[in-house]
Amino acid sequence: MTSRYAVFGHPVAHSLSPKIHAAFGRQTGIALDYQAIDVAVDDFHDALEAFARAGGRGANITLPHKQMALVLCEHLSERAERAGAVNTLIRTEHGWDGDNTDGAGLVRDLTERREFDLRERRTLLLGAGGAAHGVAPALLDAGIGELFIINRSPAKADALCDALGQPGRVHSRYWSDLGNQGAFDLIINATSMGRDSLTMNLPMALLAPRALAVDLSYGEAAIAFLAWARSAGCKHVVDGLGMLVEQAAESFERWHGVRPETDPVFDSLQQRSAALATAD
Ligand code: ATR
Repeated sequence: MTSRYAVFGHPVAHSLSPKIHAAFGRQTGIALDYQAIDVAVDDFHDALEAFARAGGRGANITLPHKQMALVLCEHLSERAERAGAVNTLIRTEHGWDGDNTDGAGLVRDLTERREFDLRERRTLLLGAGGAAHGVAPALLDAGIGELFIINRSPAKADALCDALGQPGRVHSRYWSDLGNQGAFDLIINATSMGRDSLTMNLPMALLAPRALAVDLSYGEAAIAFLAWARSAGCKHVVDGLGMLVEQAAESFERWHGVRPETDPVFDSLQQRSAALATAD
């Protein structure tokens, strides 16, 4: 029987994960069935159990279910526990094991594919939701310098700071004080503003010379933030497509024990999105 895998989200029709996993499966010769399953929050638990009964062996979890997935797991990896969110489920005889591959995916994209050195970078993280929780621990482990977290609701920035547990290195700041924080070598947009076609008002002086600006979204959702970074003179701008492919590869390896080659899959998705942008 072909093993069943899926990405659960709401909405999820736009997800590139089925394409990515199908490409990894072809490349490694592993037969798999990977579907996108759209399920509302109230139905998520039941849908996941039905999926397991129908032969579901693993799942990716995206908005808005990442925190709920954490609660449903029998066992969590250390990185899922630190992130407080699960994006990868692995079926075992006891139930679901939960992992979070987002942070590792981001760091691998930035350091291996694009060959940026993250060490000692004074870093600004915009947002304190699920995406910010997923990447912050991995960025600290990758050796960034001080980390400043800013969020519309300040209490969530404070809570993420506390959860990261590195006072002296990790700080929360008010959005209104952004102009007084000096320049940053790495700025990461982990808010969902771009998904709502909103632009954020950021001071131009935030970017240090040779700064790197990263939006965790890709496609249209990343346009506004990366356009701001370019207009502020930033030459190194990166969207979240590479992170998406790398986190998928980490999930694939957890499920199948084989690490796929990510470059061909990333290249073909990037060409496709460039072609779509030109067609617009
Ligand atoms: P995700 O999993 O993508 O992080 P999320 O957990 O809903 O989604 O988090 C969304 C993030 O974008 C939060 O940091 C949110 O700020 P709040 O915690 O204050 O809600 C941020 N965000 C969303 N819309 C925003 C807006 N219009 N202005 C500023 N921040 C916004």
